[in-house]
Amino acid sequence: MATAPRMAPSTSTVTNQALAEFSSDVIVGLGQPGQKELPSKYLYDEVGSALFDVICLLPEYGLSRAGMRSLKRYAPDIIDCLNGPFVVAELGSGSGQKTRFLLEALSRRQRVNYYPIDISGSALHRCQQELSEMDRVSIVGFERAYLDGLQEVAARRREGEYLLVLFLGSTIGNFDRPAGDQFLREVRKILVPGDALLLATDLEKPIPQLLAAYDDAAGVTAAFNKNLLARINRELDGNFDLSHIQHIVRYDEAERRVEMHLRSTKWQRVTLRRARFSFLLRDGETIWTESSHKYNPQEVPQMGERTGYRCAGQWFDTEWPFAQNLFFAV
Ligand code: AVI
Repeated sequence: MATAPRMAPSTSTVTNQALAEFSSDVIVGLGQPGQKELPSKYLYDEVGSALFDVICLLPEYGLSRAGMRSLKRYAPDIIDCLNGPFVVAELGSGSGQKTRFLLEALSRRQRVNYYPIDISGSALHRCQQELSEMDRVSIVGFERAYLDGLQEVAARRREGEYLLVLFLGSTIGNFDRPAGDQFLREVRKILVPGDALLLATDLEKPIPQLLAAYDDAAGVTAAFNKNLLARINRELDGNFDLSHIQHIVRYDEAERRVEMHLRSTKWQRVTLRRARFSFLLRDGETIWTESSHKYNPQEVPQMGERTGYRCAGQWFDTEWPFAQNLFFAV
């Protein structure tokens, strides 16, 4: 999966253009010979986004709590590494809760302009509400794809101001490794030397722990995954028989990634009437819906070095292997 995660609109009002894009990506992914796949960004419609919020509360899924804890603890140290006035852009607005720790630390020494960037207007709205009462912080959301929004934010900064880009939640892990590097390079092209990127990465951990994190006992991640086919049924007038679809999680040791698949437990001919597309899903065949790459701490600075940055520091969560990595554009 080489696509960027979490860039789909999360409202149920799907524009014609978004629907046409969805339809064409689905046809490409399900029509190819060999392994069928669907881009993980389509997991996040309104239902999928709500299920993802629940995933973040699950005991098995420590990733988002690690992100929160590490920023709560280390935000002042991270901000201490920044010299000069900074404006802050965040790729994916999230709930704003994690960002609060960084904004609080930075606003102790300067007024802060914070620009969350998200394709979902409702996600931006939630983030703005969460952070609206912060002193000395002004918020302007950009309802854009990450790189388009970042271009606009970069164009707004004043002489002498640096940009701090936040890419939290280990969303980088949902890119294939080469696509992750390419994304970091694209971000770097928009930055100038001295600008900073705070990149969160989920780290390698025992395989049983990873499998449980993506296949929880309550079945929330299974519902999140299956909702992608339910979404196709809803939006493209499809007839996937979801009672014969299983959520499958694998760990690929060579690639160091968790993979989510959906497996059919019978032969089914699937027709997507709105897309004018039909195909056969064999008994036991899977559709690959997401990869979540895990990193070792040493490789993250190397990722930065080969994509135009130097790593100025790494901060680790003590309960769930997870790192906040601060890069400077060189
Ligand atoms: C958004 N992203 C970092 C999550 C992850 O862990 O890769 C998405 C997710 N998929 C299943 N659970 C969580």
